[in-house]
Amino acid sequence: MPEYVLARPKATPLDPPLAYSRLREEEPVSRVTIWDGRRSAWLVTRYEDARAVLGHSAFSSDSSHAGYPSLRPDHPPMPPGFFANVDPPLHTTMRRTLTREFMIKKIDALRPAIADITGQLLDEMTRSQGPVDLVESFALPLPSLVICELLGVPYEDHEYFQSRSKVFVDITATGQQFAKAWGELNAYLLDLLTAKRKAPGDDVLSRLGEQVDAGTVTERDATDLAVFLLFAGHETTANMIALGTVTLLQNPDQIPRLLAGPAETALAVEELLRYLSIVHLGLRRRAIEDVTIGNVTISAGDGVIVPIHLANRDPEFFTDPDRLDLGRANARQHVAFGYGIHQCLGQPLARAELQVVLPELFRRLPGLRLDTPLEDLAFKQATGVYGVRALPVTW
Ligand code: HEM
Repeated sequence: MPEYVLARPKATPLDPPLAYSRLREEEPVSRVTIWDGRRSAWLVTRYEDARAVLGHSAFSSDSSHAGYPSLRPDHPPMPPGFFANVDPPLHTTMRRTLTREFMIKKIDALRPAIADITGQLLDEMTRSQGPVDLVESFALPLPSLVICELLGVPYEDHEYFQSRSKVFVDITATGQQFAKAWGELNAYLLDLLTAKRKAPGDDVLSRLGEQVDAGTVTERDATDLAVFLLFAGHETTANMIALGTVTLLQNPDQIPRLLAGPAETALAVEELLRYLSIVHLGLRRRAIEDVTIGNVTISAGDGVIVPIHLANRDPEFFTDPDRLDLGRANARQHVAFGYGIHQCLGQPLARAELQVVLPELFRRLPGLRLDTPLEDLAFKQATGVYGVRALPVTW
């Protein structure tokens, strides 16, 4: 029984390891071990099977249950506010407190602000001759500034919240380190929430404060929701911007498509999301009743891992899946944001950011290039969100 996860080969860091493609072909629902062989779980690698699991109510996301195949063996139970790991009906209640904040219309109104921030960061970056680290100077500050604006969190505190958010996705961090980072972010956001309840502004934290005052959500849950949003709002998109840039620089013939117009840009972003599928350690579930997936019966109590980066490279659904094709007609059907009731709440924001930022980067810097060979870049293998640690570029 192979151990999940295998590291990606140095020469092909943008592709899942080849062994998984073989597994998807020969044994699409197979047993793997996790936690250095201490647990086993089912690995579901085909696109259709992935959607069947993620869309089925018999698969629980509740990480507080002993049978749940967490990213680390000593993962502390998550509070209701971290609702990616909560089942209905509590999941429905928690998600509902935020759905209005992420409606497409509301997020689209942020596009001019995203464009301004992009312009300012690029102005600052191009003041030097380069090389610069694109992660440090652009990919990370951009979504951090945007989520700060949206939530009402002061950006001056970015080092505090970025360093703690990194621990959340680092699977080599112990449960104790995770709990410490969570506790510190929680205390920080509780202070901010308290201040917003006294002096509200036009931001998500203030509106969460209003819900606390109205008695529709507890202070504890509101604080946890804010921690979750602050973390999810920057760590994911930052990696997508940096990796998207690497991918486009490896496929320069396709850059004109990204710049061809709003519809082409939107499709190009979907293809990048599919191709990179940055949440690459798999979505985790536990069966609460017996279910047949493919031709395998998964028994109640079994852990299940759905590696969406493999589903998104399934040749039965995406033609020539390992090729980046920014004009791919069915790219939008990727599962990079998950599928079913837990599908990413922040996807309108992530899309708006990527659709503004990536074309602007290549329009402003047509000579953009890597300052280090691809194989020398340090990729984040042991983190829940795939990315590159630093990206030295010149232009
Ligand atoms: C490119 C960027 C992003 C990617 C690839 C991504 C991916 C995902 C995935 C795969 C899930 C499903 C987890 C599961 O089913 O277990 C998810 C859930 C979630 N994401 Fe994102 N995400 C991104 C950006 C964001 C942003 C910007 C925010 C918020 C500001 C956000 C907030 C959330 C939330 C709140 C959930 C939980 C939804 C639920 O359980 O109902 N994400 N995301």
